[in-house]
Amino acid sequence: MEALLSSTTTTHLRPPVPSSKSSLSTFTTSNRTHHLIHFPRKTSKSIHNRCLRVSASSSPRSATETTVGSSTVPSQMKAWKYDEYGAVDVLKFVSDVTVPSVGDDQVLVKVVAAALNPVDFKRRLGKFQATDSALPTVPGYDVAGVVVKVGKQVKGLKVGDEVYGDISEKALDGPKQSGSLAEYTAVEEKLLALKPKNIDFVQAASLPLAIETAYEGLERAGFSEGKSILVLNGAGGVGSLVIQLAKQVFGASKVAATASTSKLDLLKSLGADLAIDYTKENFDELPDKYDVVYDAIGQGEKAVKVVKEGGSVVVLTGAVTPPGFRFVVTSTGATLTKLNPYLESGKVKAVIDPNGPFPFDRVKEAFSYLETNRATGKVVVYPISEEYILEKLAK
Ligand SMILES: NC(=O)c1ccc[n+]([C@@H]2O[C@H](COP(=O)([O-])OP(=O)(O)OC[C@H]3O[C@@H](n4cnc5c(N)ncnc54)[C@H](OP(=O)(O)O)[C@@H]3O)[C@@H](O)[C@H]2O)c1
Repeated sequence: MEALLSSTTTTHLRPPVPSSKSSLSTFTTSNRTHHLIHFPRKTSKSIHNRCLRVSASSSPRSATETTVGSSTVPSQMKAWKYDEYGAVDVLKFVSDVTVPSVGDDQVLVKVVAAALNPVDFKRRLGKFQATDSALPTVPGYDVAGVVVKVGKQVKGLKVGDEVYGDISEKALDGPKQSGSLAEYTAVEEKLLALKPKNIDFVQAASLPLAIETAYEGLERAGFSEGKSILVLNGAGGVGSLVIQLAKQVFGASKVAATASTSKLDLLKSLGADLAIDYTKENFDELPDKYDVVYDAIGQGEKAVKVVKEGGSVVVLTGAVTPPGFRFVVTSTGATLTKLNPYLESGKVKAVIDPNGPFPFDRVKEAFSYLETNRATGKVVVYPISEEYILEKLAK
């Protein structure tokens, strides 16, 4: 399995740290210092020789820009947007979306990387219309980026901080209309955490919604040291983190997980003691029973057959059979802050699908891929803001 299990030891993140595929250079012009991440030529015609400037001091240069602290924020931005619910083709890449205003408890984040989640396409398909925010929608929950503006009541974050988070507190109940698949997104301070210094923006963007779901589900199930767990869909965005958290954070005695044949090695590398090939074996016909079954695929009916008496069955999607329970994640930066030490020590690692990261102009492809239900770990979109940055550098 070639998923990128990402854990780096780099510690100097201001100036920014390039990923393993990029290199960093710094140059100075008159009154400003520019930090550039250079990306290698990729197959997409639009992704060669790209540069990402994540910090620079500046003064206003056009009527459409305002200067806040040390950052220049335009009034309009590039973003993905849909005006109606439907298949992937309703997504449009536009350059005239208004940069969101910043509430008193919010910060404006210059988006460096964003990740996709199944909720993004389920929402786009109109499955949550009854509780969705109004159209048009800029999709995207997961973000990693740099704070460029802070609201009046913000206390813990400042311009220049590198942050990550799930920008919508309630995934289904009035999620943000202006999401993270954009050059800028406005987020409540409480939903963000400082990005661990040893992980890059791609890794950071991949984590929030999935790791918060993984953690909240384990807590709600009363998972604790010495207990056993079966993770259904151990290779997906959530399951790959449930395995790691169960083992590394909660101290599981035994972790079993399901995936198809080619992903069994990945499950083991994440800490699974038993990797079950669902194409060859039915987990509910095996003799083992577990304290907790974590269903991240929608097999609630079978899941309850393999839980010990008095145990818990966490269901993320699909039908719920007692004693199983379903919950919808509540985003909170506090969970990320709590888990940061495990990311910093490398005990818990971001799992990035090897088909990505997808550049900003290939978000439709990224969605189409995620919608195959075969992604390994997380599908990440990166870099974002590239053209805006190149335009600025050319001036
Ligand atoms: N309730 C909540 O708060 C919440 C939060 C997050 C996610 N969710 C939901 O939870 C589900 C999982 O999310 P995710 O982001 O982890 O999804 P994901 O990353 O898109 O899952 C893709 C993975 O599913 C695996 N898979 C497909 N069929 C399988 C099967 N029969 N048994 C085991 N694995 C199988 C695939 O592995 P193979 O290629 O090996 O088949 C693939 O690696 C989604 O329905 C999502 O909407 C709910």
